[in-house]
Amino acid sequence: MTDKQIVETELKKGLEGIIAGNSKVCLLDGENGRLEYRGYKIQDLAAHCTFEEVAYLLLYGKLPTKGDLKGFVKTLAARRKLPKPVMKTLKSLPVTMNSMEAMRTLVSALGAGIPDARKLTAEQQLDQAVTLTAAVPVLSAYFYRVKNGLPLVKPSKKLSLAANYLYMVRGAEPTQEEARAIDMDFILHAEHSFNASTFAVRVTISTLSDMFSAMVTGIGVLKGPLHGGAASQVMGMLSQIGSASNVDTYINNALANKQKIMGIGHRVYKTFDPRAVILKEEAKSFSQKKGDMKWFDMADKIETKMLKEKGLYPNVDFYSAIVYHNLGMPAEMDSDIFAIARVVGWSAHALEQYSDNRLIRPLDNYIGPVDLEFVPIEKRK
Ligand SMILES: CC(C)(COP(=O)(O)OP(=O)(O)OC[C@H]1O[C@@H](n2cnc3c(N)ncnc32)[C@H](O)[C@@H]1OP(=O)(O)O)[C@@H](O)C(=O)NCCC(=O)NCCS
Repeated sequence: MTDKQIVETELKKGLEGIIAGNSKVCLLDGENGRLEYRGYKIQDLAAHCTFEEVAYLLLYGKLPTKGDLKGFVKTLAARRKLPKPVMKTLKSLPVTMNSMEAMRTLVSALGAGIPDARKLTAEQQLDQAVTLTAAVPVLSAYFYRVKNGLPLVKPSKKLSLAANYLYMVRGAEPTQEEARAIDMDFILHAEHSFNASTFAVRVTISTLSDMFSAMVTGIGVLKGPLHGGAASQVMGMLSQIGSASNVDTYINNALANKQKIMGIGHRVYKTFDPRAVILKEEAKSFSQKKGDMKWFDMADKIETKMLKEKGLYPNVDFYSAIVYHNLGMPAEMDSDIFAIARVVGWSAHALEQYSDNRLIRPLDNYIGPVDLEFVPIEKRK
């Protein structure tokens, strides 16, 4: 062991508990289940705001006035038209591609030919964030339609960003209640401090790379099953379980085999995830109105069982899966929804990183061998 090496046990695997920087974007207090975007409680934002209002808050740092919001909504709606080369790329993608892989590729195509980030002003970078916020849902919905051999649905300028996404995927305009539900879900997924994808976005920006590259990074990291990839797997797990009476056996087997239950557990929350609390209520009332409590009852039983067995709580991906199911969204798109909403949070962090940048370059604790005797290739065995 060299002098510089530290004892391995001093290091918390996965950077647990490490503060990696200052931020004014989001307060996440995992001990007490508190979440605030730029100082506003998530409960207030979910109850009183539209997703566009929250996106404005995260991107511009303050709640919009009526005039600000009107202009922002108009700009977002106008930027739903994708450039021709992106449409061409979209239609050329293999339909075997997973929707998150397609999103990653198409965001990259969207950023083709953009100038060096160092030559852009803060306003231009913010403008790119607005373009990404508007365009990512459109390219996700288009790819879903192409992949499934369905005719493309043109974006509607009169619908909100979230309602338009639902419309473009399903091909049917949402009711007011459906529009409100998806909007609230987008608000709850918009931001979550230095999670894995956001941190990766900030690392990307810290090299003075561009906003589009940072979003590609974010999507690539989010798609993993321990992060946003879990969202698309929750409904599949519930289908596999089949009914509330099978929950105990399924969980007992899974835990015995060290298998993770998707949508359960969180690195930071040591109590209820406030987003899951809101989404649980939403999932319950939606299921009651639809007269189909099967999925909700199963999820509720899983929650109770996991709390008893492992002391773990549901996270944002758990009850949102039931909300999406009730909205008629295909389960494979659940991770897309997470990413679409999170573009706003990633962008807010990217802009913050640009505004006070220093290259993010940590150290590792080298634990391999040192000073080995070099053996020429002819003599190696
Ligand atoms: C989110 C997550 C990655 C956090 O992981 P983490 O902080 O590294 O926690 P660990 O994976 O070290 O788990 C700690 C303990 O809880 C258990 N655990 C954590 N999440 C679990 C889950 N979803 N199902 C079953 N057991 C779980 C682990 O097996 C481990 O148990 P042990 O100490 O008996 O071995 C983890 O909870 C997980 O994989 N959840 C499922 C995926 C998911 O929903 N992700 C979305 C997050 S928003």
